[in-house]
Amino acid sequence: ALSHTLSHTLNRASRSARARRAVESFPVTRRVVDRFVPGETTADAVEATRGLVATGRAVTIDVLGEDVLDLAGARAMRDAYRTLLTALDEAGCAAGADVSLKLSAMGQALPDGTTIATDHAAEIAGAAAALGCTVTLDMEDHTTVDSTLAIGNALRATYPSVGNVLQTNLRRTPGDIADLDGSGARIRLVKGAYREPESVALQRKVEVDHAYERAIDALMASDCYPMIATHDPAMLDRAVSAAVAAGRGADRWEAQMLYGVRPELEQRMVDDGHRMRVYIPFGTDWYGYFMRRLAERPANVAFFLRALAHR
Ligand code: FDA
Repeated sequence: ALSHTLSHTLNRASRSARARRAVESFPVTRRVVDRFVPGETTADAVEATRGLVATGRAVTIDVLGEDVLDLAGARAMRDAYRTLLTALDEAGCAAGADVSLKLSAMGQALPDGTTIATDHAAEIAGAAAALGCTVTLDMEDHTTVDSTLAIGNALRATYPSVGNVLQTNLRRTPGDIADLDGSGARIRLVKGAYREPESVALQRKVEVDHAYERAIDALMASDCYPMIATHDPAMLDRAVSAAVAAGRGADRWEAQMLYGVRPELEQRMVDDGHRMRVYIPFGTDWYGYFMRRLAERPANVAFFLRALAHR
C-alpha cells in the first residue's frame, strides 16, 4: 500500500512544475539520473549507441522532451531527431538503429496538431528510411491513443516500418492488437507507464501482468513484428516460448529494455541468441522520464534518497 501511494505521488510529481524545480535543483540529482540517461548531447547518445552495438545490442534513441507548447518547439524537436540521424550515420551506426518519438513533442496537442505531428513524424521517418533506420511512435496517456494509432497507420502507407506501442494496462489493447493484425506493423508491447483512470485501465499489477501474457501470445500469433519491451524475466520467458509455439525464428521478434535498468538481463537475452534493443533517452529535458522510472519502482526512490544523504 505504501509503495502504491508513493508511486501515485511520483506520477503526480512528474506533471508538477514545482516538484520539477525542486528535483532539478538537487545537486546530486544528475548523478542518479545518469543511471537512466547517458547524457544531454547528441554525441552522448551516439557514444552510448557505439558501446551497446559493440556488445551485440541494437538501440532505439529518444530525444527527451514531451508536450511542446508551440510550433517552434515542435520544429526544434523534429530538427533534433534529424541531427541525431545524421550523427548516427556519420558515426557508422545508423543501419539497424531505431528512433523513438513522442508525438506530443512533435506538436500533437497544438491546434491542428494531428497534421503538424504527422508531418513532423513523416519527415523524420523519411530521413530515417534513407539511412536504414526505423521509427517507433511512443505511446503516451490514454487520451492520445486513437490519434497515435491513426498517425501510425497513416505513416505506414509510405513508411511500412513505422512502429506503434500498445500498453497492456489499457482495457482496449486486445482490440487494438486484433485491429493491427494484418498490417504487419512493428508493435512494441509495454505494461504502461502512465497512471490512468479505472474506467479505461486495469489498476492491479497482477491484472496488467496477465493482460501482458495474453497480449504476447496474440502478437506472436499475428502478422505483426512483436517488440517485447519489459524488464520482467517471467514475461521474457513467456515471449520465448510463445515465439517457438508460433514458429517464429529469432529474427522475427525482439526484446527491448530501457537503458540502465537491467543490463545483466539484456546480456542474458543476447547470449541466448535473441534480438535485444536498448531504449536510450538523452537530452536536457529528462524530468518526466526520470520521474516515471522512479514511480514504477519504489526501490529506485531509496536509491535516489541514499545518494542525496551521501552527497
Ligand atoms: P515491472 O514493472 O513488472 O517490472 C519488472 C522488474 O523489472 C522489476 O521487478 C524490476 O526488477 C525491474 N524494473 C522495472 N522498472 C524498473 C525501473 N524503473 N528501475 C529499475 N528496475 C526496474 N511505457 C509507455 O507507457 N509508453 C511507451 O511508449 C513506453 N516505451 C517503452 C519502451 C521500452 C523499450 C521499455 C522497456 C518500456 C517502455 N515503457 C513505455 C515503460 C513500460 O510501460 C513500463 O512502465 C516499464 O517497462 C516497467 O514495466 P516492466 O514491464 O519492466 O515490468
